[in-house]
Amino acid sequence: MKILKIDGGRKLNGTVKISGAKNSAVALFPAAILCDENVHILNVPNISDIDSLNSILKYLNAKVEKKSQDSFYIASCNIENKEITEDMTRKLRASYYFMGALLGKYKKAEVSFPGGCTIGSRPIDLHLKGFESLGAKVEQKGNKVIITADELIGSNIYLDIASVGATINIMLAAVKAKGVTIIDNAAREPEVVNIAMFLNSMGAKITGAGTNTIKIKGVQYLKSCTHEVIPDRIEAATYIMIGALLSENLTVENIIPEHLEALIQKLLEMGVDLKIDDDKIYVTNKNKLKATKVTTLVYPGFPTDMQQIIATLMTQATGESKIEETIFENRFQNLYELRKMGANIKVVSNKGYIKGPTKLKSEDITATDLRAGAGLVIAALIAEGETTINNADYILRGYENIVEKLEKLGAKIKLIEI
Ligand code: UD1
Repeated sequence: MKILKIDGGRKLNGTVKISGAKNSAVALFPAAILCDENVHILNVPNISDIDSLNSILKYLNAKVEKKSQDSFYIASCNIENKEITEDMTRKLRASYYFMGALLGKYKKAEVSFPGGCTIGSRPIDLHLKGFESLGAKVEQKGNKVIITADELIGSNIYLDIASVGATINIMLAAVKAKGVTIIDNAAREPEVVNIAMFLNSMGAKITGAGTNTIKIKGVQYLKSCTHEVIPDRIEAATYIMIGALLSENLTVENIIPEHLEALIQKLLEMGVDLKIDDDKIYVTNKNKLKATKVTTLVYPGFPTDMQQIIATLMTQATGESKIEETIFENRFQNLYELRKMGANIKVVSNKGYIKGPTKLKSEDITATDLRAGAGLVIAALIAEGETTINNADYILRGYENIVEKLEKLGAKIKLIEI
């Protein structure tokens, strides 16, 4: 296990460059399998989830070559379509994208159920129903799913929930199917658009990504392309909130402000001093923060991935803030850890009530999942004295060089393996 030790209470100033988006990169790497030549992916974040995906790609005999610090060539021409077992899939949620990608290319996928953060039950029934609509047979044997098809044929698919994972997985399966697939009530997240653009650069015919209705006209061959991962809006949000609490001047650069609209509106409502430029945001903590209310929603609503992070900000705002989590049922574990640090928090089913401001004290706390961990890093940066965050492995799954980035801003932070 890795632990983070953070000696908090310091001002953090300077510039931080945001890396490529985890949730986009983790779909692009499995999607690379669909290419009949090779792909070059740029702006790839250096995070452990990418290492896990690369191990799976190499196990399948794909050629994965690191071309620079943040770019990879992937050649999938000689892939062996083998079973991907639980020891590989449980490391991350995004391992489910091998189902859509292998099915799309070889009409067969044998993949165990995915792992990932324990933030709720997280079924994948919509992914599997989508594959069935395309003509595949889905069998579950123990913890693995065997998906086979003689032929994949485009169809009309309505998603009961606008799921990011299901939308992307169905796109992967449908891109080479015969005829036209229409996904209705599709997820509109920027990561979905980034994957659709990647496939289109290879020669796919996908329209409507970023709207509720995505249309995919199947093609037979996908050619080489170069594609860039979009900036990580959740990492950006994390550093912007650090700035709102601890900076006289912090520049968060390499961002797409439009992807952060819901957060920006909330921060302005809370009184955060922000200046927005084309691809950067300047933030300081010069104003007192006011309490606010957040309800998580699908994009372009307030992202569930940011609620555990804004919770820490709320502990420093005057008045009672409220978070209503509508996407995942178990995403408040961070609130119990914040309470240990002195925060005044009440949890009632899917609602968290946070009264502030309260001084946070250093503690021995635990990251229960990736974004809980990010919220706790911020709490540790505010608290006077040394805080220990156990299970920091979760945080490294999604934050590139977090120790180096925070040190550069002036934090006192150490990563220790025990
Ligand atoms: C992705 C992100 C995650 C983010 C989430 C919501 C990745 C690797 N992870 O997760 O960081 O928090 O989107 O923005 O990109 N659902 C079903 N059946 C399904 C699929 C989903 O009931 O087959 C439900 C889920 O339980 C959840 C909701 O739909 O309540 C949304 O889930 P979804 O958008 O699929 O999230 P993930 O793809 O798991």
